[in-house]
Amino acid sequence: MNPEEIANNNEIILDFIQRYTIDDNPIEISFRKLFPEIKTGERYTHLIHAYPAKLLVHIPYLFLNNTILSKEGDFVLDPFVGSGTVMLEGLLANRNVYGADANPLARLISEVKVSTPDLTKLKSTAKSIVAKAKMYKKYNIPSVVNYEYWFPQTTILSLSKILTAINKTEDDDIRKFMLISFSNCIKKVSYADQRISVPVKLNPNRYPINSKEWDRISSRISQLETIDVFEKFNQIVNENIVRLKSVNNSIDSKYKARIISDDARNLTCSLHGKKRLAKESIQLVITSPPYAGAQKYIRASSLNIGWTELAKANELLCLERKNIGREHFKKKDLQICKTGIKDADILIEQVNSINPTRAKIICTYILEMIDALNEMVRVLKTGGFLILIVGNNKVCELEFNTQEYFTNYLTSIGLKLKFKLIDDIRSYGLMTKRNKTADIISREWILAFQKTSTI
Ligand SMILES: C[S@@+](CC[C@H](N)C(=O)[O-])C[C@H]1O[C@@H](n2cnc3c(N)ncnc32)[C@H](O)[C@@H]1O
Repeated sequence: MNPEEIANNNEIILDFIQRYTIDDNPIEISFRKLFPEIKTGERYTHLIHAYPAKLLVHIPYLFLNNTILSKEGDFVLDPFVGSGTVMLEGLLANRNVYGADANPLARLISEVKVSTPDLTKLKSTAKSIVAKAKMYKKYNIPSVVNYEYWFPQTTILSLSKILTAINKTEDDDIRKFMLISFSNCIKKVSYADQRISVPVKLNPNRYPINSKEWDRISSRISQLETIDVFEKFNQIVNENIVRLKSVNNSIDSKYKARIISDDARNLTCSLHGKKRLAKESIQLVITSPPYAGAQKYIRASSLNIGWTELAKANELLCLERKNIGREHFKKKDLQICKTGIKDADILIEQVNSINPTRAKIICTYILEMIDALNEMVRVLKTGGFLILIVGNNKVCELEFNTQEYFTNYLTSIGLKLKFKLIDDIRSYGLMTKRNKTADIISREWILAFQKTSTI
């Protein structure tokens, strides 16, 4: 990044801090207008794989490319790393980056997004995978939930052959790259509606016969029945190689990005390791946590997780239980308890009188988010910054004021709020349209805190 851009970003951040000090009012901005030169689509490897509720890249771009919140070589953390937006932007900004996520697919996407395999080897392996796969007589079908419902028979065979060939790849970086490209193919060759994040089967009969939608869906289904899966995989691999090349040419190998944990509440030095990440070791945390009951990350990834053998169909429930913001609770477990955040507790009581399940969802969400926030603060250096990107939503027609609850909690434990921004999230993507009891998120809040003393 050139010094002029850094100076410009420093000025923007100092202006936010100054304006907020004067009147404590949230500042309305449009990140897209602030950086019109950053396109929301193709940028390095951000489109290597689809993922629900990806962060707008402009946000980490600003908060990483300045010398106020962190400096080159500092350690940055995203404990809800998702598809690795912060991880990639951090590396591009010459920071060392750690990520954590409960979803194994998210962890794999993030890893591949910042990997630097040998590109010549990558290209030749891609060719041989397809050639070998076409020849296989012996292959395994992995444990994918309801696969016969989601894929035509010939597609199941082709996918199984490609997977068998990928699994024989020796170089780990290349194998993971192929697996992510393969995973990116899955929804495109399935009967799942690509416009919806969780799998929903295409069905023309939801529309009047011969209507435009009926025609569109019927022809899509016919296409899927004869789709050349090998060709589709090949196409995605080639697109992803171009993306990876742009990253390889832009990052400095001095700086590293790594996945360190599968739970934001327990940050360790390495994935599945026991040793906890040292306290006061991180200069900057940037993260967009999950929303309460607004995204079903594991369900949305279930076909991909199965096909990439990251988990078996019968292990999905267990993965879901690790998710903050999950929605499934047994009737016998619906008792709620106090979170200690006064306004949140009032809301939870109100919701409880209308819908005890919803009350349990938001109560558990806040309690688990408090654990995650405590963990972020523990690893943050004194003087370090925490940037949270959150949205408010509605629960039983009542406002669930996430940003206010988190602000109250973090300031109550001694963090200093430096500024609050509000941006709209039209392109946030793939939000599930909620049922009557919750609402979609349309504005996002960017909260910037500083850890001013050892807590
Ligand atoms: C809003 S998304 C993050 C999106 C990310 N910023 C991106 O650009 O792709 C929230 C993420 O939190 C993850 N998550 C949920 N519970 C978690 C937990 N206990 N620990 C770590 N990650 C968790 C979900 O799997 C999801 O990927």
